[in-house]
Amino acid sequence: MSELKVLISRQKIAKRVSELGAQITKDYAGQAVILVGVLKGATIFLSDLARQVHLDATFDFIGVSSYGNRPTPTQELKSGWDSTGEVKLTKDVDQTIKDKNIILVEDILDTGLTMTYLKRLLQARQPKSLKVATLLDKPSRRKLPLEGDYVGFKIPDEFVVGYGLDYAEKYRNISDICVVPRK
Ligand code: IMP
Ligand code: MG
Repeated sequence: MSELKVLISRQKIAKRVSELGAQITKDYAGQAVILVGVLKGATIFLSDLARQVHLDATFDFIGVSSYGNRPTPTQELKSGWDSTGEVKLTKDVDQTIKDKNIILVEDILDTGLTMTYLKRLLQARQPKSLKVATLLDKPSRRKLPLEGDYVGFKIPDEFVVGYGLDYAEKYRNISDICVVPRK
């Protein structure tokens, strides 16, 4: 892989994550929350965010994969992946969420298809509340109208890796968010 360029430094990420945690702590004061991370990209964001949320908080995880013809990593890099919108659940949460405060924690909102599917799925189980925290947001790519309730950074239409985000499963363990050059 050619040079990765830092888009958002680890220091900026840490500052913003602590602001989001403070906001969540304030919004849910006196209540319990379940942070539901979307595997695998959100795991690092969830682990940092959770430590900035000073509430009675527990974790859960949900896994999805998209149907359709997956592009090669090179195609994905060039034009992103316009999935068909059909999302398959690969791992459900481990508990009932009825009457609970749920915060879905995601790495990035892109077309919005994944999160729209997940919100619909969980909303049907009648949680007390359901909100979305996302580290990154690429609003210019949206196909379905969807907004995060807690958004770390809005970014342009670039392919990014690091801090949980991958390119062909690699680079999740980089501490900064970096742009993969499209060349
Ligand atoms: P959506 O359904 O198009 O909103 O897809 C969101 C998912 O696409 C994210 O959870 C990521 O797994 C993936 N994704 C979108 N943009 C990027 C990117 O720039 N880098 C890495 N993964 C991305
Ligand atoms: Mg993801």
